[in-house]
Amino acid sequence: MRVGVLTGGGDSPGINAALRSIVRFGAKRNVEVVGFLEGWRGPMENLVQPMTLADVSGILHIGGTILGSSRTNPLSEEHGVERVVETMVGNAIDCLIAIGGDDTMGVAHQLAKHGVNAIGIPQTIDNDIAGTDYSLGFFSALEAITDALDRLHTTAASHHRVLILEVMGRDAGWLSLMGGVAGGADVILIPEEHFNVDSIFTRIKRRELLKKRFSIIIVAEGARPEAIGGQVVDEAEVDAFGHMRLGGVGQYVANRLSERMHMPVRVTNLAYLQRGGSPAPFDRILATRFGAAAIEFACEGTFDVMTAVHGMKIEAVPLADALDEPRPVPEGLLYLVDLFE
Ligand code: F6P
Repeated sequence: MRVGVLTGGGDSPGINAALRSIVRFGAKRNVEVVGFLEGWRGPMENLVQPMTLADVSGILHIGGTILGSSRTNPLSEEHGVERVVETMVGNAIDCLIAIGGDDTMGVAHQLAKHGVNAIGIPQTIDNDIAGTDYSLGFFSALEAITDALDRLHTTAASHHRVLILEVMGRDAGWLSLMGGVAGGADVILIPEEHFNVDSIFTRIKRRELLKKRFSIIIVAEGARPEAIGGQVVDEAEVDAFGHMRLGGVGQYVANRLSERMHMPVRVTNLAYLQRGGSPAPFDRILATRFGAAAIEFACEGTFDVMTAVHGMKIEAVPLADALDEPRPVPEGLLYLVDLFE
């Protein structure tokens, strides 16, 4: 069997660990692996290279993807699907494994409808892919966020300041909620719930009554101020999947709090630090299990599915089920937003 693999969309730590597992477990099953470069651009432009045991040696702990990634979308390119199918035939690919977020899973599902034997591995720091408890990269990003909040605490306490940390998370607040809990943020703002500055101000004043002379706020880039009813957009640009570039909600909150408090409120945007670095142990283990499962599914002929983790089990979930709206933080976890209020 000959398997192709690509890595699409926003990168994260853990991808290389999955590539390593696909190649190493594939070798046990007599599966030859080839890598397509730069996300879906690779299959569209036949950018392909062998993936041998030597190619994946020593990459378990290295972040990012040795294949490169992009936000290329074959569905929005002229004859994009046909070009991908031609590449599969031309390289005698029996199965294509796509590692990425919901956009990458969506393309894989559409290609499966055109006869490509596609298998997805869910990977995005946003952790917002339906059908799986966790996606690759989430726990590594949480480590970066937690470390940042720990660092902000010491300087906020030294200078009696209100500091804001803006984190990624377009439509779901997994990173801001769980990062906020892990890092002890005093105010947690997530896209799932509109927020208003008055209530933030009240919380800070309440802390002052408790002799707490600093506060830490964590806000998801996709959080929605009640006053504008929508998200704060950084630039008007839209990517190949129609996503606006988000950014600036942290400064939005800082400006309004500064006015109310007659003191400067500072913002740190963690941005791409959340997507860099070495994968957390959980992500290394999940990546290793997802990679092996993808090979197993390929060998048994289970296609148009995504590897998914449910508790401790790894299961095949139809890609169609993974493409629901981005998976928000469930109602049952929202109590964590104001657990100590
Ligand atoms: O999809 C993951 C993600 O990191 C989002 O959290 C973020 O909004 C987006 O990618 C940034 O995209 P880009 O890498 O294209 O700037």
